Amino acid sequence: MPRPIRAGFSLSALRHNLGVARRRAPASRVWAVVKANAYGHDLQRVAQALADADGYALLDLNEVVRLRDAGCAKPILLLEGIFQPADLEIVDRYGLTVVVHDLEQILMLERARLATQICVYLKINTGMNRLGFTGAGVRAAYDRLLASGKVAQISLMTHFADADADGAAGVAEQMTRFTESTVGMNAEISMANSAAVLRYPETHADWVRPGIMLYGCSPFADETAQALDLRPAMTLASGIIAVRDLRPGDRVGYGGTFAAPKSMRIGVVACGYADGYPRHAPGRSDSNTPVIVAGTRTHTVGRVSMDMLCVDLSAIPQAGVGSPVILWGEGLPADEVAACAGTISYELLCALAARVPQAEVE
Ligand SMILES: Cc1ncc(COP(=O)(O)O)c(C=O)c1O
Repeated sequence: MPRPIRAGFSLSALRHNLGVARRRAPASRVWAVVKANAYGHDLQRVAQALADADGYALLDLNEVVRLRDAGCAKPILLLEGIFQPADLEIVDRYGLTVVVHDLEQILMLERARLATQICVYLKINTGMNRLGFTGAGVRAAYDRLLASGKVAQISLMTHFADADADGAAGVAEQMTRFTESTVGMNAEISMANSAAVLRYPETHADWVRPGIMLYGCSPFADETAQALDLRPAMTLASGIIAVRDLRPGDRVGYGGTFAAPKSMRIGVVACGYADGYPRHAPGRSDSNTPVIVAGTRTHTVGRVSMDMLCVDLSAIPQAGVGSPVILWGEGLPADEVAACAGTISYELLCALAARVPQAEVE
């Protein structure tokens, strides 16, 4: 028998969440962001479920090839563009749209021998200070791309640094920089990630680029996925594999970081950090992490180990070996678990381990 752990994926949740993005940005086309194996949800599965998207945005050429070879004919945006000249052969062969964020990439493009002209997204650094051209460099890059003879269409893009936080001022500032550095350029524009799709309609422009919201998580610390009408696409579930009674003072797990304050009953869950569960999720008396056992909410006790974690069963007398456990997803937002572990749901979803068996539900 395999371990009871599994990850379930809801195709209807994915479709529903894309519908939410469309309703929030009704005049924009949607690049569904499916990088990092669709945030851990399986690229092919998500691309099929989100067949209504206008295109897919990702950055790994191997993933692009997998997508095209599986029959996907939609526009594909390479979010970091090319890394070396040979990448342009794949861009050419598979008809990809490429981000250009650096002069080196323009050089590679100028020197390339392409069968067809390609579509590019000129990336503008408006404050993130990661990728993209800044200030006067934008015009220079734009003119050089135009003059290269290699480009069929230039679109303009930027990425927001804090649309997910208390970012109204930051978003406005980035938009001002964007407008200033692109004066006179007649091009399609793409700016909005999930947070901007949901909170800043003025950023929607021609194409939006939602990622995390498609998977049913909230980009905001102060607004839940449920309040945003988003449904979890991934549910990480497992089962209780052992039950133990503790006496007051008994410690649990590596380092004995949890000591039972009273007599209690705990369960051992077949899920650990080798499955992608965050090792830093606390299980102490003063701070712990929610878990659902047999439909009832409880919490972790002790440190998460490689293959197991422990949960308090004191208030769930009906729970025993074989009882179902939900680590995150349906009924327990990944956002909440992530916050307890001092991280964000993105990291949890992307970290789902390959060893966890997967299943799809409608
Ligand atoms: C350039 C770009 N656009 C869009 C997204 C989607 O962001 P989110 O998942 O926050 O919607 C990302 C993700 O990091 C990104 O890097």
